[in-house]
Amino acid sequence: MAKQAENKRMEEIISLSKRRGFIYQGSEIYGGLAGTWDYGPLGIALKNNIRNLWWKTFVTDREDMYGVDAAILMNQNVWKASGHVATFSDPLVECKKCKKRFRADQVENPKKCPECGGELGEARQFNMMFKTNVGPVESEESVSYLRPETAQGMFVNYKNVVDSFHPKLPFGLAQIGKAFRNEIAPRDFTFRSREFEQMEIEYFLKGDDWKKIFEYWRAEMWKWMTETLGLSKDHIHELEVPAEKLAHYSKRTIDFEYDFPFGKNELYGLAYRTDFDLKNHSKASGVTLEYLDEEAKTKFTPHCVEPTFGVDRSILAVICEAYQEDELGGEKRVFMKFKPALAPVKIAVFPLLKNKPELVKKAREVYAALKKEFGAVMFDDNGNIGKRYRRQDEIGTPYCVTVDFETIEKDNCVTVRDRDSGKQERVNIGELSNRFKKIF
Ligand code: GAP
Repeated sequence: MAKQAENKRMEEIISLSKRRGFIYQGSEIYGGLAGTWDYGPLGIALKNNIRNLWWKTFVTDREDMYGVDAAILMNQNVWKASGHVATFSDPLVECKKCKKRFRADQVENPKKCPECGGELGEARQFNMMFKTNVGPVESEESVSYLRPETAQGMFVNYKNVVDSFHPKLPFGLAQIGKAFRNEIAPRDFTFRSREFEQMEIEYFLKGDDWKKIFEYWRAEMWKWMTETLGLSKDHIHELEVPAEKLAHYSKRTIDFEYDFPFGKNELYGLAYRTDFDLKNHSKASGVTLEYLDEEAKTKFTPHCVEPTFGVDRSILAVICEAYQEDELGGEKRVFMKFKPALAPVKIAVFPLLKNKPELVKKAREVYAALKKEFGAVMFDDNGNIGKRYRRQDEIGTPYCVTVDFETIEKDNCVTVRDRDSGKQERVNIGELSNRFKKIF
């Protein structure tokens, strides 16, 4: 029963996401393309809010962080040195009868096809990188890959940043960008996609300091998830990845798992990548990627702790957490309890009636002033006020502002209505800006 309720909740979240312009299926009018999703006007607004907050928190507000934006296509030798050509694979099994393919570690019975009951063949390793050719000639030399992680764009720019900025250890490189994985079985809405986005940090340090710095980033990630994204700490669980399941580059990894309606699953990761990447790139490229400690007069290869955050999984967790159903004024409603900083629309402005030009004129003035200051402000004059409130609740707008006859005839005050409590208050138009500035 609990499972059924969670499935229903997920269906409702997916349906609302599409209906209200958060997330659409990729290439939908052609029947879609498995594992791809398009963000609509509200989805991209939410995504930008998350990306901007992440960049502010982990790059702009800090002294020890350097942002980069590396190319998605990289020299194939990057992926040979990083170990991805040899080991970035999942076990694949094929059904001998219906020919469907599955991830071997995700089928219940390794011998039996979950679709048709036919016999499954032996598992083989399937490399998940999307392979392509750069330039007009298809040859081994022109092979490249769509990057499966943004991390390598930072390792190959380590020396560039050190030469330009001479940072002192510990310091980090940060990047937000697309990553691509030819997942065998994309699933659970955007959770496992073939094209997605990551926000990653490669934090370089002296090898001896890794444990302390690992703990520091562990606490920072908790802060981001609970304070900035507003995820309940009861919905987040740490998984100490067992040695046999560690990625080829990691000596220790903690996965932060979130209670999605479809089950507990990885949201983010924190890995100690040792000096694996810099050492391998140094060896393969012939370029020294060391750090010169001027005080101690020593040279060494820094180690690295990597906090990694999926953008799409952040959005999915925020949407799942925000989705609420309750009763307000004797009516059932659905509302998105986004934190104000994340809400795609901050304020909606309404004239009480759309066929009263004096109300519309005043509401337009209030709208223009708030929009200039707060950007994500919406004007809505369609349908009765109750319906407009419901529509804004569904997209998580924290405040609605209504201009009525009293505004014009009496007190220059508007009604400000709070999304979560439904409470309404009269506020003078002249005070609106200060009031909202404290919130957004
Ligand atoms: N640089 C390390 C790295 O890429 P990962 O655990 O493979 O580590 C990092 O991926 C994060 O990227 C994950 O925690 C998740 O948030 C996101 N991610 C990974 N695969 C994904 C997929 N197929 N669809 C959506 N997000 C994905």
